[in-house]
Amino acid sequence: MNKTIEQIVSLCKRRGFVFQSSDIYGGFSAVYDYGPLGIELKNNISQLWWKEMTQVHENIVGLDSAILMHPKIWEASGHTGAFNDPLVDCKQCKSRYRADEFSEKYQDLNWKNIKCPKCGTTGKLTDPRQFNLMFKTSVGPVEESGTEAFLRPETAQGIYVNYQLVQGAMRMKVPFGIAQIGKAFRNEIIARNFIFRTREFEQMEMQYFVKPGKDDGSLIDWKNKRFDFYHQKLGISESKLRFHEHKNDELAHYAKEAWDIEYEFPFGWSEIEGIHNRTDFDLRRHQEFSGKNLLYFDQPNNEKFLPYIIETSAGLNRMLLTVLSDAYWEDTENNRIVMKIDPRIAPVKAVICPLVKKDGLPEKARKIVDQLKSQYKVIYDQQGSIGKRYYRQDEAGTPFGITVDHQSLEDDTVTIRYRDTQKQERVSNEQILNLLKDNI
Ligand code: GAP
Repeated sequence: MNKTIEQIVSLCKRRGFVFQSSDIYGGFSAVYDYGPLGIELKNNISQLWWKEMTQVHENIVGLDSAILMHPKIWEASGHTGAFNDPLVDCKQCKSRYRADEFSEKYQDLNWKNIKCPKCGTTGKLTDPRQFNLMFKTSVGPVEESGTEAFLRPETAQGIYVNYQLVQGAMRMKVPFGIAQIGKAFRNEIIARNFIFRTREFEQMEMQYFVKPGKDDGSLIDWKNKRFDFYHQKLGISESKLRFHEHKNDELAHYAKEAWDIEYEFPFGWSEIEGIHNRTDFDLRRHQEFSGKNLLYFDQPNNEKFLPYIIETSAGLNRMLLTVLSDAYWEDTENNRIVMKIDPRIAPVKAVICPLVKKDGLPEKARKIVDQLKSQYKVIYDQQGSIGKRYYRQDEAGTPFGITVDHQSLEDDTVTIRYRDTQKQERVSNEQILNLLKDNI
């Protein structure tokens, strides 16, 4: 089935997953808001990642560092000098492009001979100019020199500058990791493909500190673990996932080796997560710029070293788009759209419906909601025909429909309907909790 990003955008708005920011003002470019279902799904995904990192791995701990940090951090990290994208403008129609959209070797292009993809005019594109992606702000009531600060473009630096405090407080021994989920901001030149590339987004990053020499093995280990996470935990189709290795000309200034996990979105294969061997680049630079000794003391071996860092860096919003893209299914036979979201991360686990709005059925259905709601996100729905109610929840990705009918009043049973197959079975009220437990 061919899915388009437009179909996904439309469903997201219709069902309350994702909205364009500032919608009533005509929108705000490349910024999005998450509606009631979107925030449930986003929370479920991030909790799964958090658990995987900080609970399943005993040697990984969490951190929540601030968005605003000392401006020198961005000099040390290289972002002030090198976090640039090449920008090209069309003088005719005012469209704006990233030069590398035309060719990865855009430096070799003769821009006078290139046609603007939007208006078709040749000779009106400017030469590429470097554009820094960091958002600037000022700290304190007066805007003057020395008050300049940046909204962080990645969460990673917050981990590096706290690494020694965390290590000391938690008595961590190398190898150990620090995980963080938080907002990042990039003034992207062009933002396309819905929530894939936005100016405000969330990252889920884990920095793993290893002894130099153990870095290559650790990278292989994390590559495999992160790949497995997508299909084993998020339920993403394995055939739509692949690795992409960064060749020398693609490698970031800090990386010795880098791999992307890519997903085949409706607009093509694109990166959802990066796994990087950052060596001791970041700690060495922060040591140099802060003047603080950041060496790790390996007591049993009585040696000091700067750990190497293996980074796993995922975008939460991209992960959510991956889930939505993978789940979208047009069931043409039954004329319905189904979001086949894995029950473990589905925003709502079950809808409870009285067959009719009378005869004591709503009261009985409400009792079931009360019985389940402390453990699972469930909703009550009595509006419209039962078929319509089910189809609404199919689009919302709700895996189970529980219906209370007149027989329920007699023998305390309900029907349970499965979203993907539409199969229905009769189960006792007592069995409902176990059924949800077994499937979620
Ligand atoms: N600390 C390393 C780092 O930030 P990156 O490849 O620039 O590496 C990592 O970003 C991940 O963050 C990407 O794989 C992507 O999922 C997400 N990401 C980056 N820029 C984004 C943007 N403008 N909008 C949404 N997600 C973005």
